[in-house]
Amino acid sequence: MAYKILEKEELAPGIKQYDIHAPRVAEKFKPGQFLVIRLHEKGERIPLTIAMADARAGSVRIVFQEMGKTTFELGAMNKGDSIMDVLGPLGVPTEIKKYGLVAGVAGGVGAAPLLPILKALKETGNRVITILGSRTKDLLIFRRELEKVSSELIITTDDGTAGEKGFVTFPLKRIIEGKNKPDAVWAIGPLIMMKNICNVTRNDGVRTFVSLNPIMLDGTGMCGCCRVTVGGHVKFSCVDGPEFDGLMVDFDEIIVRNRRFLEQERISYEKYKNSL
Ligand SMILES: Cc1cc2nc3c(=O)[nH]c(=O)nc-3n(C[C@H](O)[C@H](O)[C@H](O)COP(=O)(O)OP(=O)(O)OC[C@H]3O[C@@H](n4cnc5c(N)ncnc54)[C@H](O)[C@@H]3O)c2cc1C
Ligand code: FES
Repeated sequence: MAYKILEKEELAPGIKQYDIHAPRVAEKFKPGQFLVIRLHEKGERIPLTIAMADARAGSVRIVFQEMGKTTFELGAMNKGDSIMDVLGPLGVPTEIKKYGLVAGVAGGVGAAPLLPILKALKETGNRVITILGSRTKDLLIFRRELEKVSSELIITTDDGTAGEKGFVTFPLKRIIEGKNKPDAVWAIGPLIMMKNICNVTRNDGVRTFVSLNPIMLDGTGMCGCCRVTVGGHVKFSCVDGPEFDGLMVDFDEIIVRNRRFLEQERISYEKYKNSL
């Protein structure tokens, strides 16, 4: 069975959104879950979070940043093209319940997986404050959508072209030290961002959930590729996560492991580029 791209949109330079026809996945999706896709017979398997599902239309939405061979190849596909394999929904869904005041922190393309989580938390009666950060104004995505689910939306950019100049950790620290200390924080973005968020929340013991992005292969707990250490225990992100208690995660280990194939990734991308 092939999975047709129903809609394609470029949200920001190098960040694309696709709606894919995958009715059985759409029916079962819960916030926090992801897909493993393979573009064609010779393609590699890559994990991408489900940003939204429409059970009636039978579609799931992915939002991805072009990083290397497979994401550029995916980005070159068009509406009407088909993806060979779409496996999902995978992973443990977010525990949606009443926490009280929740702070959501999104870095770059992390806004896409964070949105369905915050939407569900709001619908369950939580008050949501969101911090959305990116390197520069052009890379801010889902601003309007996040505004809708938040009582307050704070924007940061590293270069100061929109919102506050600086990192997402600055307003989070201010919020935690102010009158409205959050009962829980969800942070999704680059590993270094999630690590730094946890360094801020750890001091005040604020419960912090992060969505980890180690390298994954099968996505079903068989290969051990997505191994991470949480609270001193080995966990497989694909079946035990990808969401974990951030205060217990060994981020340095994942950062090192994720850089292990940089040379092979570079060669693979060069070969792909030269084949065009
Ligand atoms: C659970 C999960 C959800 C994710 N959701 C999203 C998402 O919604 N949007 C998005 O843009 N990205 C997401 N990612 C990251 C995405 O999978 C990688 O960007 C993609 O695999 C890169 O592949 P590439 O061939 O284009 O680049 P490459 O050049 O091969 O790799 C670039 C970098 O991406 C990471 N990466 C490479 N291969 C894999 C792999 N098989 N599994 C995981 N990471 C890999 C590595 O850190 C690598 O250095 C997610 C990752 C995980 C684990
Ligand atoms: S990706 Fe293979 S065990 Fe998780």
